Amino acid sequence: MILAVTMNPAIDKVYSIDNFAVNKIFRPKAMTATAGGKGLNVARVARILGEKVVAAGLIGGGTGEFINNQLQKDGIISKFVPINGETRICINILDEKNGTSTEVLEPGPAVTSDEYRIFLERFGKIIIDCDVVTASGSLPRGVPAGFYRELIRIAKSMGKMFLLDTSGEYLKEGIKEGPFMVKPNHHELSQVIGQDISSKEDCIKALNYLREAGVNFPVITFGEKGCTAALPDGMYHFYAPPVKVVNAVGSGDSFIAGCAVALSRGKEPVDVIRLGMACGMANTQFFKTGMVSRELVDRFLECIRMEKWS
Ligand SMILES: Nc1ncnc2c1ncn2[C@@H]1O[C@H](COP(=O)(O)OP(=O)(O)OP(=O)(O)O)[C@@H](O)[C@H]1O
Ligand SMILES: [Mg+2]
Repeated sequence: MILAVTMNPAIDKVYSIDNFAVNKIFRPKAMTATAGGKGLNVARVARILGEKVVAAGLIGGGTGEFINNQLQKDGIISKFVPINGETRICINILDEKNGTSTEVLEPGPAVTSDEYRIFLERFGKIIIDCDVVTASGSLPRGVPAGFYRELIRIAKSMGKMFLLDTSGEYLKEGIKEGPFMVKPNHHELSQVIGQDISSKEDCIKALNYLREAGVNFPVITFGEKGCTAALPDGMYHFYAPPVKVVNAVGSGDSFIAGCAVALSRGKEPVDVIRLGMACGMANTQFFKTGMVSRELVDRFLECIRMEKWS
């Protein structure tokens, strides 16, 4: 079973608006509202692939209720801890005509130390029945930047694989605890290590940095250019032919979901990355953020190629 942690979930609203511009009034031609926040995208995609999934974190208010209802419909077990604040709403305005995506992300509620301590206590119990734990996205206000380190420590002490997908200070802190896998995109990682990651050499150096920090399975993703991963026998770049994109937001979350599912099924490292990539690619084909179909994932699995870099 997989546990997907989302400490700062959201209702993700996507509006489809052609020729979007500032200072004008628009009526969307299509819209969706999804239980979102990066970890809930992970949960949904892992569930679509057929895994038993638990989602946990902190939620509150009417927006929190919407999320719990949505999880139930999707067949995901909710172990969210209730908080006083109101769960946030995040908006993505997609302009398919001009190929742009404009995001407005609410910061989310402030959380008290009592609230996040209750979560910490429950976390140790929830993961007993899980073999893989994912934690994605930012932390809500009031939760210390090193919070993921606590989760990683608990998960490691119980022999669980921990996949961390976050950025900035949270990633910098999290890496120190040596999570099983991290999967920053190249922008996120170059910000944390303070160096550009554009050449093959930069990439190898960055993966080595993560390995030396104690990450068993570091991966750097590059959007449509695929990803580079440190596998037990060397560093490999994975790539695939270009696809026509509908909405690429959430491809990294889908990637994590694919990796978590493959790890939970005991797959080889190469197949862990391949399933991650196929999910990331499949996600680009849907209007909804964090969405795949098994058919597309199977089809994309066939066209992924790899090249040894070191
Ligand atoms: N435009 C695209 N075309 C094909 N595959 C893509 C595209 N964008 C993403 N992918 C696939 O998804 C994986 C993860 O994408 P990306 O590097 O954009 O993650 P990310 O920036 O973390 O995304 P997010 O945080 O929005 O979920 C890539 O390694 C690739 O396999
Ligand atoms: Mg990402």
